[in-house]
Amino acid sequence: MIIRPTTADEADALAAVHRAAFGSDLEADLARDLIRDSAYVPALSFAAEEDGVLLGHVLFTRAWLNRDDGLPGFPLLNLAPLAVLPERQREGIGSTLVEAAIALARESGEVGMLVFGDPKLYGRFGFVPAATCGIRTPHPAEPEWGWQVLELALGVLGTPGVLEVAAPLDHPELWRA
Ligand SMILES: CC(C)(COP(=O)(O)OP(=O)(O)OC[C@H]1O[C@@H](n2cnc3c(N)ncnc32)[C@H](O)[C@@H]1OP(=O)(O)O)[C@@H](O)C(=O)NCCC(=O)NCCS
Repeated sequence: MIIRPTTADEADALAAVHRAAFGSDLEADLARDLIRDSAYVPALSFAAEEDGVLLGHVLFTRAWLNRDDGLPGFPLLNLAPLAVLPERQREGIGSTLVEAAIALARESGEVGMLVFGDPKLYGRFGFVPAATCGIRTPHPAEPEWGWQVLELALGVLGTPGVLEVAAPLDHPELWRA
């Protein structure tokens, strides 16, 4: 298996991985919309591939932490969506994709990451619930602790503020686990 960057012309093939993994068109359409969005961060969006078959995909878009104190906010990276083909789940592919992206983000001088997901899955990478750090979302989420942050540069987690995510992700119905 290889982990590699993706190209814009494979958006449909990547969307198919999300459709299979989530069992719905919602995340597949979301992945396609995010790839077209100005907030898309192609450099950190990786595919897992084996013998020419796509097994998994992780996608990142730019997000912001708008600080309560009015000082310039922090640019963050929002991880969503993440998917691995159902028949290849629980083999470590999802973790490998997330770890590859975190390593490159760190190397690139990014200050923090954001995800809406299960802490059981993301806690192992160092994500902590955003609410415990004074970081809030513009709409209520269920569960509230579903939004999590990972500090890559010192300071982000101690800075209260409100998150701003790419337009295709800014829908409370996506924030229900
Ligand atoms: C979530 C997903 C991407 C994980 O990929 P994966 O390749 O199966 O993950 P890994 O094999 O690296 O497993 C990582 C760990 O997370 C756990 N895990 C996997 N899916 C999980 C989930 N939905 N919730 C909580 N924990 C999960 C695994 O049990 C494993 O823990 P373990 O090592 O203690 O057994 C994959 O299961 C998937 O595509 N699921 C459907 C789509 C989805 O829910 N995406 C995430 C949305 S935030």
